[in-house]
Amino acid sequence: VPAPAYSFAVLTLSDKGSRGEREDTSGPYLVERLTREGYVLQSYAIIPDQLPVIVDALIALVDRQAVDLIVTTGGTGVAPTDVTPEAMLQIIDKEVPGMAEAMRAESLRKTPHAMLSRGKVGIRGQTLIVNLPGSLKAARENIEVVLPVLPHALEKIG
Ligand code: MTE
Repeated sequence: VPAPAYSFAVLTLSDKGSRGEREDTSGPYLVERLTREGYVLQSYAIIPDQLPVIVDALIALVDRQAVDLIVTTGGTGVAPTDVTPEAMLQIIDKEVPGMAEAMRAESLRKTPHAMLSRGKVGIRGQTLIVNLPGSLKAARENIEVVLPVLPHALEKIG
């Protein structure tokens, strides 16, 4: 029996990216990496780092599109514009702190800056939402940490 194909969305959170002032490399990388893993792309978008915009985008993906997995990149740090975790707190039903802690722990082996990421992992409805940092390097390193547990997590959530 083939494994069920879970759908996914990638949301890049970047003021400059959303204005076309910076090319998004992390988003397309995540689209490619998750597709290679067998997940089915449902949507990819670049939106500005603004709390209500992030909240609305996440709610739409879950409540209207019923996507199984959302991966965000960016806005997890400590700059004034970094509000991804605050948006998560407004919309998730449950946190999955172990997944976020595992990403930070593994990332700390690579750079002390890993402790500046405040990214969360949470569940809204039957959707798992994973926050990754914004840089390509960080997004790449962090997604590898959670990839092995995603199928089991998605199976339990759905
Ligand atoms: N995690 C890994 N694995 N590798 C990295 O290079 N960069 C860090 C961190 N996590 C990094 C990482 C840096 S420099 C910052 S500022 C935080 O993630 C937050 O990034 P963000 O504000 O782009 O979300």
